[in-house]
Amino acid sequence: MNPKQSHATCPDGRQAPKKRILFVCLGNICRSPTAEAVARAEAITRGCEDDFEFDSAGLYAGHAGELPDSRMRAHARRRGYELAHRSRPVSESDFFDFDLILAMDDSNFDALRHMAPTLETQQKVARMIDFAHNRRFLDAVPDPYYGGADGFELVLDLLEDACGNLVDSLSSDSTTN
Ligand code: 4NP
Repeated sequence: MNPKQSHATCPDGRQAPKKRILFVCLGNICRSPTAEAVARAEAITRGCEDDFEFDSAGLYAGHAGELPDSRMRAHARRRGYELAHRSRPVSESDFFDFDLILAMDDSNFDALRHMAPTLETQQKVARMIDFAHNRRFLDAVPDPYYGGADGFELVLDLLEDACGNLVDSLSSDSTTN
């Protein structure tokens, strides 16, 4: 995606800047590409997909260029999501190009806050789990990579909850840009 600022046309004809959201996990092959696809689907369901640009990236560059993990793709496909993103590492320019950077867990959150080039861009980093209404007492979207099928289903459950609320909250928040 080219995250240069682009605009959405409002119902009254005004041009509003699109809200640019970056989802970040460790490898960018399980949680964050799924968040990107689920958020896009939630926006389409609400008819406001033109108001957003979604992308994802990873803090570990070892999977750069790869499609999402085959297990994650299979679980996502069963719920109607096709994961076609290619893994890429987070870059310094992401902190300027995106309005909101959502970390999947506290380790991601701390790394992103540390990487942020300015205090202002540091304020763009937030936790994905904080958008989930049914957190199931969890403090993160847990890394499913070394676990079984339940972990991938949990990632999808949490992200469907959180991404729906994220799109709702940003759609009603005209102060984001
Ligand atoms: P993700 O999952 O951060 O949700 O993409 C992982 C993917 C790969 C690795 C760890 C977590 N890894 O160690 O290679």
